[in-house]
Amino acid sequence: MDAAVADAGCDGPCPLNAAIEARIDGLIAQMTLDEKIAEKHGTTSVNGLWVASELDRLGIPGYRMVDGARGVSSGTGYATAFPVASLRGATWDPALEERVGEAIGLEVAAKSGNVLLAPVLNILHHPRWGRAQETYGEDTFHMARMGVGFVRGVQEHVLANAKHYAAYSIENSRFGVNVVVDERTLREQYLPHFQAVVDEANVASIMTSYNQVNGSYSAQNEHLLHDILKGEWGFLGFVESDWLFGTQSTVPSALAGLDIEMPYANFFGAPLLAAVDVDAGLDAGVDAGVGAVPLDVIDASVRRILRRQFEYHLDAPAPRPPSSVVESPAHEALAQQVAEEGIVLLKNDAAALPLDRSKVRSLAVVGALSATANLGDHGSSNVTPSITVTPLQGIQQAAGKVAIASVPTDTLSTADTASVAAADAAVVVVGLTWADEGEFIPGTSPGDRTSLTLSPAHIALVQAVSAANPRTIVVLEGSSAITVEGWIDGVKGLLHAFYPGVQGGTALAGILFGDVNPSGKLPVTVPVAEADLPPFDNTSAQVTYGFFHGYRYVDHDGTTPRFPFGFGLSYTTFSYENLKLSSTTLAPALDGSVTVNAEVRNSGSVAGDEIAELYVGANHSAVERAVRDLKGFQRIHLEAGQTKTVSFTLRARDLAYYDVTTSAWVVEPTDYTVSVGTSSRDLPLTTTLTVH
Ligand code: BGC
Repeated sequence: MDAAVADAGCDGPCPLNAAIEARIDGLIAQMTLDEKIAEKHGTTSVNGLWVASELDRLGIPGYRMVDGARGVSSGTGYATAFPVASLRGATWDPALEERVGEAIGLEVAAKSGNVLLAPVLNILHHPRWGRAQETYGEDTFHMARMGVGFVRGVQEHVLANAKHYAAYSIENSRFGVNVVVDERTLREQYLPHFQAVVDEANVASIMTSYNQVNGSYSAQNEHLLHDILKGEWGFLGFVESDWLFGTQSTVPSALAGLDIEMPYANFFGAPLLAAVDVDAGLDAGVDAGVGAVPLDVIDASVRRILRRQFEYHLDAPAPRPPSSVVESPAHEALAQQVAEEGIVLLKNDAAALPLDRSKVRSLAVVGALSATANLGDHGSSNVTPSITVTPLQGIQQAAGKVAIASVPTDTLSTADTASVAAADAAVVVVGLTWADEGEFIPGTSPGDRTSLTLSPAHIALVQAVSAANPRTIVVLEGSSAITVEGWIDGVKGLLHAFYPGVQGGTALAGILFGDVNPSGKLPVTVPVAEADLPPFDNTSAQVTYGFFHGYRYVDHDGTTPRFPFGFGLSYTTFSYENLKLSSTTLAPALDGSVTVNAEVRNSGSVAGDEIAELYVGANHSAVERAVRDLKGFQRIHLEAGQTKTVSFTLRARDLAYYDVTTSAWVVEPTDYTVSVGTSSRDLPLTTTLTVH
């Protein structure tokens, strides 16, 4: 750990540091009201870093913030472009995600930043969301584990910023849409992962979202900020707004608990100065009359803004990491490992994969995307690496004696078709780019997807290739679910590669040739058709989110998805045996737990990683429940023939629902079905746990 931040790195809520609090007392006593107000908004941007809160007169260093959902933002020059977060979600590997966070944090520090504006912890309510690639997937338990890993890694070097709080999952109407969500759904589906990074990783800061939640903009939402984040969860860091139109008011935002308006003063600054009532006390605050922000509210906010600066010793920074850490060989290797663990094998008929170099003499590599550095969105998460390995380059480098016929176009000439037909196998790369999905920045970035299907041109290309070559393998690029009907039956193999980062081509080639055994699993549901999911509405001023989305939605409806949540194939096979609970009963209290053990055997002939998944469903509940909820997962490596025991701690609180009548979490006395297996729809081991 970087010595500069050593004492800020506690994994649970950090106790307040008395010396830091006393120092802040002294500073607040010396600050003029103008200086306090100036702490509460961004000021400028320098070399791609957003600046806020610096005050030279009093030695307050301030923040230098930078985007980085998949690497340090393009605005700072070159950086390692890691696979997007949706691919990283497909690794189901929080320890690896911690290393990614640490690597990005180190590159931020090397570029003089001190706050990384990541991770994105927004539940993928629907795969058409333009920023699906920036988040880990559709499930809150999975997102919590991945987010905690990332934040811990980042905060080895700089502050992390969990965003966008909360219920942000539509792009094109993001600047105003009112997301109506009932309290139980909010508590159970949209907030637990934010609480996890507060409780378990002591995340330094939180960014609010653009949208409204139940009629109040997130940056002035008393319930989200005052009651839950700061009240119930005891968050001690600072809250900042999102950028373009992220702050919508002066007094309501200040009173609700927005600490910093970013990126510049608009509602804070002069209007906030005018609204401060220097005579009103904190207790009188909310009743102090329209336009009145008590000085105590400003002081408490300045305290939160200063606290992280001193906890992280930003006033006496350790020497910056050398610029050689940026795009270092270690980070390139990490990006490759992540892609190798996250690319998902969805179909492999007739052992189409792997391609055995001693038997396959020629391989056609087809599609414009095969020769494109396709790294993801060009919005705020954009990263510019100095070199990217495309799928074609990766395949060429790994091909050995296999002759590669490159057809880097989306339409086939007669000669192209002949060359595809003549090859022993064909790999066709299709999918989405930043022009199809991304952050909605008017005039720059497109926002939400218009459909879950491939484009007609890509469907036609897949059909043409598979008509010409019986051993056709499709590689999909794109952030989340892409439906496959109309062409899947014609192809033998299917890989989902997301946006696989700077070494994506190397990782992909390793999987195609069998040097790497694929092990990623979908962090999203791939439906047969879009109609199988809840509606996606990015034009209305108001949308309502129901209790179910993703796998819970198709499970509840009894719909069979094309590829279920948690699904992914391997070049080997795994079998599950001997499910055991440490106890078959639990008391109806939040603090109990049982241990769930199961044996996983590699029943095939090559080594591989398996991700074992644990789901729980409540039987005979007094409230509506999902058929099953993910409550544990574990990635393990198994040699051929090897058996290992996976062990999960199932906490009583993981069984609880949020009771809106008592505003409390309730562990309901009933029976729970505990299942372990290889995907949400393939759970060979099942037992019952009784709460009484
Ligand atoms: C995005 C944020 C980002 C910010 C700064 C906003 O438009 O929603 O995720 O951190 O811009 O670039």
